Amino acid sequence: MPENNQVKLCLANLESTKKFGQSIGQIIQPDTVLALSGEIGSGKTTLVKAIANGLGVEETVTSPTFVMMNEYHSGRLPLYHIDLYRLIDQPNIPFSFLAAQIEEVLNTESLVIIEWAEMFSSQYGKELSDFCKNGFLRLNLQSTVDNDEIRILTLNLMDQNKRTAFYLFEEICKLSKDISIKK
Ligand SMILES: Nc1ncnc2c1ncn2[C@@H]1O[C@H](COP(=O)(O)OP(=O)(O)OP(=O)(O)O)[C@@H](O)[C@H]1O
Ligand SMILES: [Mg+2]
Repeated sequence: MPENNQVKLCLANLESTKKFGQSIGQIIQPDTVLALSGEIGSGKTTLVKAIANGLGVEETVTSPTFVMMNEYHSGRLPLYHIDLYRLIDQPNIPFSFLAAQIEEVLNTESLVIIEWAEMFSSQYGKELSDFCKNGFLRLNLQSTVDNDEIRILTLNLMDQNKRTAFYLFEEICKLSKDISIKK
């Protein structure tokens, strides 16, 4: 396992992202939190859809817009998909209501995925880590200038003493050795 609790991998194209997402959807354990970051169009929602597919979610997964949190209960685990992007262009939205909703689903037997997760602490003034008893993973997606489809994925384990986050980090380290995922 990498000593700095960070792993970087290259998703060579859309298919690789879908395959990666599906694989982690299949192995993810209850009470896992993924905090996604990356610029617009970097592939956060695409990854969430692939993870949902791996979980066996039957409904169509769409970007949460007005409600900011969508939930899906047809898969192996409940999936809560949160997107905090609207907090950027509409900073007057009171965050306390949404924060209460988020707090309610954290530390449950589910998978919680937050897009634009960096907005959590900047809007709330509290760190996400304070709320995740089982730790969480930060996952950043980055486009590259030389190719439309390549994405650099950086994964950070936020607390290696916490069981579920550690398990997923280790599994993703193993997956990253897969030649079809790593460049
Ligand atoms: N390797 C790749 N991984 C993910 N998406 C890719 C890849 N290559 C191309 N794409 C395309 O990039 C786009 C990513 O859009 P997506 O909505 O997933 O981004 P996003 O990060 O959720 O954006 P936003 O911040 O607006 O929510 C899609 O059109 C997808 O088909
Ligand atoms: Mg999105």
